[in-house]
Amino acid sequence: MTRVETGIASIGLHLPPLAMPVEELAALRGVDPDKYLIGLGCSEISLCPPEFGIVDLASEAARRALSRWDGELEDIGMIAVGTETAVDMSRPLSAFVAEELGLVGHIRSYEVKHACYGGTLALRQACEWRMSGAARDKAALVVAADIALYEQGDPGEPTQGAGAVAFVVDRPEIATVGLDSHTWSEPAFDFYRPVGESYPRVDGKLSLECYKKAAVECFNALAEGRNPAEVMERFSAICFHVPFPKMVRKAFHLVGEVAGWSAEKVQQLYSEKVEPSMLWNRLSGNSYTASLWIAVANALQGLKPGEQVAAFSYGSGFGSEILSLIAGPRAKDADWAQDIERDIARRGRVDASAYNLLRSSVRTAAA
Ligand code: CAA
Repeated sequence: MTRVETGIASIGLHLPPLAMPVEELAALRGVDPDKYLIGLGCSEISLCPPEFGIVDLASEAARRALSRWDGELEDIGMIAVGTETAVDMSRPLSAFVAEELGLVGHIRSYEVKHACYGGTLALRQACEWRMSGAARDKAALVVAADIALYEQGDPGEPTQGAGAVAFVVDRPEIATVGLDSHTWSEPAFDFYRPVGESYPRVDGKLSLECYKKAAVECFNALAEGRNPAEVMERFSAICFHVPFPKMVRKAFHLVGEVAGWSAEKVQQLYSEKVEPSMLWNRLSGNSYTASLWIAVANALQGLKPGEQVAAFSYGSGFGSEILSLIAGPRAKDADWAQDIERDIARRGRVDASAYNLLRSSVRTAAA
């Protein structure tokens, strides 16, 4: 078996056709809009109309990634879909997506579940599969897609959203995914959705603590006794899973505090390397497995070959991992940015009464 050059060869993104500003939800719930806008850092919630579901979202992101790749469908040897919006307890979401794409043949096809960490695991497995030689130079199609909905009135409601990211894992035209990563996992019931239930059960405060602990452990492992600020400086961007932007700010500030940086240094690194990557997340809302990868797709735009991006993945339950990506020759083209720009320009705006109507029509249990 030969070890082949591996990484992200193309990217496709997709946001659903509707969105609601969080101020509309604030008015509906009788909450000061600044709680959502400033307290949580949210701006807009992506929403799906009744006829549009996770299969549409994931399949369109996949189509877009495939359209920018110079291979053929016959060159795909794996499809892995990370999601927590499963539509069936047995049949993987990858089978629904493969059906839409006409992907049939000698293909390993499966779904990956670990809350918001599932997309990262799918991407890593695809890279490791190719690097091991087991792929026999075939490419992998990796999709991270979710529709994040909470029960109406739940404190998580303003953080809702949806989105999908797809990668063709082949030669690293856009980025190499570094093999050297650092993990931390610790069983917890911070956020989970028992079989048959439509919405997650969330211990909000515990979930914040779990996320912050995961971030500190992963970043400490990344620094490995070196000067953590210097380690951070070598990244052009530091991306996080974004349940809501304020969560990322809290976690990064704790990482800096534990590392002993001054408040000014933390703020400087946050403003320069962390906050800018969340521009699209503010417009998508939380998209669980896709959330980190929307931030990474944003950060990769225009990078020169060799520039690096850090990616911190967190999934409730809980598991986490920090990875590094190294930009390839086509990162500068950033052709995937047009996906988000077009989806945002075309999407319809939902007000509070349309939102009430929409929620009453949502199919429950993995809707
Ligand atoms: N103006 C400005 N700020 C205001 C305000 C106002 N009028 N009113 C309140 N705030 C601030 C509060 O001070 C608070 O800020 P700090 O945290 O900095 O103190 C912030 O707004 C939020 O207020 P609360 O803590 O009172 O909010 P809450 O309890 O109603 O809800 C939450 C917060 C628990 C995170 C809730 O949104 C939630 O349950 N979210 C889902 C769980 C989640 O996203 N967890 C993140 C980690 S788990 C994960 O990452 C997996 C995943 O994707 C879900």
